[in-house]
Amino acid sequence: MALLIRGGRIITATDDYVADVYCADETITRIEPSIDPKSLPPKDLEVIDAAGKYVFPGFIDPHVHIHLPFMGTHAADDYDSASKAALAGGTTTVIEMICPGPTDEPWDAFETWKSKADGISAMDYTFHMSVVRFDESARQQLRKIVGAGVASFKVFLAYKGALDLSDEDLFGAMKLARELGVIVTAHCENAEAIDAMQKSLLAEGKTGPEWHGASRPPVIEASGVHHICAFAELLGTHVYTVHTSCEAAVREALAARQRGVDVWIEAVAPHLVLDESYAARGDFEGAKYLMSPPLREKRNQEVLWGGIKSRAISTIGTDHAPFRFEDQKQMGRDAFTMIPNGISSIQERVDLIHTYGVATGRMDLNAMVDSCSTQAARIFGMYPRKGAVQVGSDADLVVYDPGYRGKFSLEQSHSRVDYNAYEGWDRIGRASVVTVRGRVQAQDGQFVGTLGRGQFVEREATH
Ligand code: URP
Ligand code: ZN
Ligand code: ZN
Repeated sequence: MALLIRGGRIITATDDYVADVYCADETITRIEPSIDPKSLPPKDLEVIDAAGKYVFPGFIDPHVHIHLPFMGTHAADDYDSASKAALAGGTTTVIEMICPGPTDEPWDAFETWKSKADGISAMDYTFHMSVVRFDESARQQLRKIVGAGVASFKVFLAYKGALDLSDEDLFGAMKLARELGVIVTAHCENAEAIDAMQKSLLAEGKTGPEWHGASRPPVIEASGVHHICAFAELLGTHVYTVHTSCEAAVREALAARQRGVDVWIEAVAPHLVLDESYAARGDFEGAKYLMSPPLREKRNQEVLWGGIKSRAISTIGTDHAPFRFEDQKQMGRDAFTMIPNGISSIQERVDLIHTYGVATGRMDLNAMVDSCSTQAARIFGMYPRKGAVQVGSDADLVVYDPGYRGKFSLEQSHSRVDYNAYEGWDRIGRASVVTVRGRVQAQDGQFVGTLGRGQFVEREATH
């Protein structure tokens, strides 16, 4: 198989130029002002006309949940639906969170999560390994998991009794990460404070989804960021704050960076475009928009967009965590604390950023590529194999039509949720052609590829 993409405007994190791209089998092998198809071996050559379109490196989502046993249920997607959704939206590689229970063996969890993707996924995939307990056995298994190519940990300061770690275990896990050279990604909200706030709200009869935000205000997230950065400062561990949602949390991370802490900041699509008013919608509608950290006051969005523009915030992920409204979100009808946390966005992310970031002038195309692809590849040890349009890089490419106009809708969604958080919103731009290692896997929002083509991306510890 060979692919020639002709006349597109190639946009990377730093460059913007018109050229032809030739991919022999799975790799980009030539990028030149003009490549004559007649000069190429004709056998199995696919020529794609990209005139008037952008050619981006495949987008990388550094924060997704696909197999997720959580809050008494399981997230609604699997690698069949999630990879179709991701590819339809231009995402060619994801980093999924492995989230075992507190008594599970880490190695078993790694094998379970990997088995859900192997042979099924149509996109490439890798994992962050959550540390939910830290004893000698866990330590040995974590070493083995890093050796198997999972070069990042995840820690939860939130979710008391389910995923959170004691400070002793957190310290131990971060020390091990430093020793192994792996980065620690962290959900930064203080579990104890949230638990206390939730209890007092429920005791006052404040049970609806509109109270979720009040149970975990910005100061709780800021204190979580401060906490992880304090441990990072003590230990020299590199850390990454996931789904950073508000000005207070961003400020804490930047203050730590000023002190010399190696901290990277992730924003996620829902926090950039949805605000707390969605979670306050009546008739339990707010449950559709319940995630953690919660949707914030609108003014925080400009702080996040500004941080991306200035590149103080490195990445934009989704925190894709799909739960159906009709049955799963209903589990919390009597208490918001029982509503499964999460919003589906894996398909919509790139177009949301293009529509509400680039088209509004909040960021340029280079920043879009940097935050939605290249930085994730760099931070998590995949660059320049991923996140780049370079000779030698994997031929993961997105031919993007900026002239497309449409609406976001459930009808077009491949995810198995029964609602679209962005239903009816204007959409500018669409991935016309999406390739994974040289094969076309999606076209104009439709999956046209092969399930099982996706590969596990082994990553080396680089921190
Ligand atoms: O609400 C969220 N974010 N659900 C998924 C779990 C997590 O905290 O990332
Ligand atoms: Zn989280
Ligand atoms: Zn998450």
